Amino acid sequence: MATPSLLCHFAALTLLLLAGGGARGLQEDEFLDGQLTLVVEDALEGGPDPVFTPRSTIQVRSVKSGSAVISHTRTWTAELDTKLRTLADNNDLYRIRVYQKGSEDKGHVSTFTKACQMYESSLTETLSLVVDGGGTSVVGVGIFPPVAVCGGEAPLDLPVQHNTTVIIRSPIPAPVPDTATYIEKLEAMKNEKAEGKDNRSFLAKYWIYIVPVVLIMVLFGGGQEGGR
Ligand SMILES: *[C@@H]1O[C@H](CO)[C@@H](O)[C@H](O)[C@H]1NC(C)=O
Repeated sequence: MATPSLLCHFAALTLLLLAGGGARGLQEDEFLDGQLTLVVEDALEGGPDPVFTPRSTIQVRSVKSGSAVISHTRTWTAELDTKLRTLADNNDLYRIRVYQKGSEDKGHVSTFTKACQMYESSLTETLSLVVDGGGTSVVGVGIFPPVAVCGGEAPLDLPVQHNTTVIIRSPIPAPVPDTATYIEKLEAMKNEKAEGKDNRSFLAKYWIYIVPVVLIMVLFGGGQEGGR
């Protein structure tokens, strides 16, 4: 009956150790570089069912250093500018969505800002992209035009193109529990218990009881012997 229980303990310990080792391995992994190409689409029509068209491509060079290159794949025309102005005039939203190139089926992340902010910022924006730790997929996007509050002022010139600053971030990895050390500690505690917590010598432990007995024996025993 002892063998299965022992086996169980061993299996559990092995699993824990493996889990600890695996988590540590993942943390030390380098981010994959240059693996991720993202497509940015936007909707300039507005309405309840907006139509998205591709506007830019982002090549994520390194998640670790946050380096990425954006290229705008659509020419900004007077027609597009009119569409954006109409959105702004209607107090509508400027919507974008981002997906991994070639993996449209995996879905997309999206965000929006007020169209007037985009319009009054002359297409200047900061795109913040959250990329998973392995650098293999995009998990979030934010858009931040420098104009935070619309003043109703139109830009003087027609913007030439989107003026985008890209920020690449990855979720901060959670601290990994140090399973191996914990198990060692547990084992040490178990051993201590098995051996008995108090490993002082017999005399050191029981001198309080021994000394009076010896004293009494010396005093009375000696007295009796002397009396004979
Ligand atoms: C592009 O954006 C930067 C700040 O991100 C700004 O300093 C610059 O003036 C903008 N250029 C144009 C043409 O709007």
